[in-house]
Amino acid sequence: MIVTTKDLFEQAYGKYAVGAYNINNLEQTVGLFRGALGKKGSNEEPADPATSAPFIIQISRGARAFTDKRFLEAMIRTAEDVFPEAIFAVHLDHGTEEVAYDCIDSGFYSSVMIDASHETFDENIAITRRVVERAHEKGISVEAELGMLGGVEEDISVSADHACLTDPDQAVEFVTRSGCDSLAVAIGTSHGAYKFSGKQGLHFDRIAAIQKLLPGFPLVMHGSSSVPKQWVDRINAAGGKLPATSGVNEQDYLPAAKLGVTKVNIDTDGRLIWCAVYRETFRDKPGDFDPRTAGKPFMAEYAGFIRDKNKMLGSAGELENVRAALGVRV
Ligand code: G3H
Ligand code: 13P
Ligand code: ZN
Repeated sequence: MIVTTKDLFEQAYGKYAVGAYNINNLEQTVGLFRGALGKKGSNEEPADPATSAPFIIQISRGARAFTDKRFLEAMIRTAEDVFPEAIFAVHLDHGTEEVAYDCIDSGFYSSVMIDASHETFDENIAITRRVVERAHEKGISVEAELGMLGGVEEDISVSADHACLTDPDQAVEFVTRSGCDSLAVAIGTSHGAYKFSGKQGLHFDRIAAIQKLLPGFPLVMHGSSSVPKQWVDRINAAGGKLPATSGVNEQDYLPAAKLGVTKVNIDTDGRLIWCAVYRETFRDKPGDFDPRTAGKPFMAEYAGFIRDKNKMLGSAGELENVRAALGVRV
């Protein structure tokens, strides 16, 4: 069942974070739904209540353009039928104003992100406010962004020198004037596989300072992949050439959640798993050329990753509570 991010955040706030996973294709979609219901190898397995979690399926502008946005919609609608137990939000990731309106008008998305963080403070508020008005008319939640993360997202690249942490006082003014439902904050993370070169990590003091001024307001952490060493090593052992790198420490998710980080965005880790499994498969079976030969193990590995990630986020085992709170019957 598709719900809004606001619905999910009301249940999660201060207790756990909801995983927001980017998808581009069918295998990622199926792996995500299976993993979120604690299934391992097949759709038919019963859901495991102990690991079942609410989640957010994220669609970037790049994902919409990859094939055709209508394929994604049809795929997710079908997943909703195949996995009737699932409770999730469908969210536009890093939208422009134009794309946000397209998603709002589609009747499919339950949540959109308007990312005008590269604009001036006042312009960011003005754009976000316009999107909020259009979205709220239709009961759709809006995420906005204040501050500047490093790394590459969509067509925008921000060097570490230009990244800047979110200012807590500005965050209060931004939320009040824009009317957004959640706020992506810059707290030390960056997009992509190359986040930290040394001992850097999340700026917990900054998250705490924002929460102090915005108690109860859901914060969003972009760039949250942990870039697990095992996946980087597997890619390199199968012919890849990724430099040594590190991401967000998974042990930091729950402490951040207690400070109001209610949505944790993960894309890069899913790409690493995809790359490792496809490389290994065709390395080990050089005579094979069937898309299903790599697709099957990928779905199983990705489902396992989602299950494990949701445990670290604290959302595993929370599906029943969300269902009860929202009065959903399957
Ligand atoms: O923040 C960006 C996301 O990782 C989406 O990446 O635009 O390449 O799909 P993408
Ligand atoms: P990662 O690159 O760390 O996976 O972050 C993804 C993201 O923030 C999508 O909006
Ligand atoms: Zn992002």
